[in-house]
Amino acid sequence: MNFVPPQGPPQTSAPKLYPILGEENIRKLLYFHYKNLSESEIKNLFPQEEEQIKISADKNADFFIQVLGGPPYFSQKYGAPMMRARHLKFPITYQARNVWLDCFFRAIEQLKKELGEDSGFTKEIEDSFKDFLRSFSEWMVNTQ
Ligand code: HEM
Repeated sequence: MNFVPPQGPPQTSAPKLYPILGEENIRKLLYFHYKNLSESEIKNLFPQEEEQIKISADKNADFFIQVLGGPPYFSQKYGAPMMRARHLKFPITYQARNVWLDCFFRAIEQLKKELGEDSGFTKEIEDSFKDFLRSFSEWMVNTQ
């Protein structure tokens, strides 16, 4: 059977988290995520050396800052996002996507611990951010 990729980008849009978290915390979140990835069962797809982890985390953070309502760093530095196209050179299965998502959700927990109670990062915003991550990451799946 041929693999049928998801049709078009997800409809779920990212919540405007930038005003709540700010740039530094979004960078921290992506650092946690990349650190988790580097120790995960899909680590071979990702950098494992500390300096490279930081570089990839920062590039990813540029994208997330942009979609979460901050300055368009990613487009300014690297051009049109074209995220699905940028991922085509990596074989991404549903299973790998689930591991990726798990690394991200754990990064959210790690960040929340640092933020404390009154950060404005409410359960509602967290849920909508997770919905965005679920649908957007599904769009990256390109291999059965
Ligand atoms: C919400 C979903 C995702 C977003 C927003 C995202 C974002 C990005 C960005 C901005 C880059 C850098 C692109 C570039 O170098 O030009 C990247 C690279 C990459 N992504 Fe994703 N990604 C997502 C999901 C995934 C998933 C599910 C996988 C695999 C399981 C994956 C694997 C990779 C790999 C292997 C790279 C290149 C290595 C590196 O991180 O430097 N991504 N991603």
